[in-house]
Amino acid sequence: MFPRTAPRLILLSALLLPLAQPLAGQDAETQFRKSCMSCHTIGAGKKVGPDLKDLGKRRPHDWSTKFITGAAAMIDGGDPTATTLLREFNGVRMPDLGVTVPEAQALLKLIDDYSAQGKALGTAAISRPATPEDIRNGRLYFTGDRRFKSGAPSCMSCHRAQGVGGWGGGWLGPDLTGATAKYGAGLAGVIENPSFPTMQGVFAKTPASPEEAFQVASFLKSVGSQPPDQRDVVFPVLGVVGLVGGMLLGGHLGRKRLKGVRKNLKPRA
Ligand code: HEC
Ligand code: HEC
Repeated sequence: MFPRTAPRLILLSALLLPLAQPLAGQDAETQFRKSCMSCHTIGAGKKVGPDLKDLGKRRPHDWSTKFITGAAAMIDGGDPTATTLLREFNGVRMPDLGVTVPEAQALLKLIDDYSAQGKALGTAAISRPATPEDIRNGRLYFTGDRRFKSGAPSCMSCHRAQGVGGWGGGWLGPDLTGATAKYGAGLAGVIENPSFPTMQGVFAKTPASPEEAFQVASFLKSVGSQPPDQRDVVFPVLGVVGLVGGMLLGGHLGRKRLKGVRKNLKPRA
């Protein structure tokens, strides 16, 4: 049995490794950029989550530490502040990112320092309206018919979305048809700076540019404009099934797929 499961385990740990890495010996700013900046800025406006400027003035230090190290438990435990924030941010849940207490304290110090100095960290999302050209280009990036400047693999090597990919798209990541409903105007920031472990492993070194991320987000918005009623229920379920299924499947197809991804990572001659 061991020899059969071994490749699967190796693949799994390869996927989870990037999650463990930011925790060791890196400073708070690096960690903020990697794990928080897809959804937060300090002093550059709100994105998927609140602008963290002056956090220390509006929340007790202990509350923030608890929230950063275990948002899910606080939201599910009915903490009144967490519940209000969740409503204010359209039901998008701050994910648990495996942050330890000392790391959270270093992050809070970073937030205090930037706030006190009036410095900003992070960039506001591009807010111009998307043109048909943006949507067209976004689709090309999604499918891989146009390459990201950084050489990052196409979204479709791991994802599908309505009308693109279908069974031919990748299954390692969830279907992205509902991504706009889930992340709203912050989606471009999430794509530019993904904090999800698997994606971060690939995109930390080869990020999409702000402009590219904006175009992919514009494309996803154009395919996600079906009524949200069913999607809200179905999508998170699909997401989990997609992730778990993708990882199991990854055990079988992963080596081939990752080889493909790696090949894509090399710039075309
Ligand atoms: C995927 C998006 C996402 C990521 C990544 C993320 N957050 Fe959040 N965060 C949110 C959302 C959304 C909220 C609002 C509360 C809610 O809806 O859960 C929030 C709320 C917070 C709050 C409370 C802010 C307030 O005004 O009281 C703090 C503090 C916070 N996040 C810190 C962090 C830190 C530090 C990181 C990185 C380690 C991080 N977050 C990563 C989405 C995210
Ligand atoms: C190497 C595979 C891979 C590639 C390439 C990839 N993703 Fe992902 N993505 C994932 C996985 C796996 C997840 C689930 C979370 C995790 O573990 O990272 C995910 C999660 C997401 C999410 C969050 C979905 C949710 O339900 O919360 C979004 C949005 C997303 N990806 C967008 C993109 C876009 C846009 C691209 C192209 C620029 C892309 N991804 C390229 C693997 C990938």
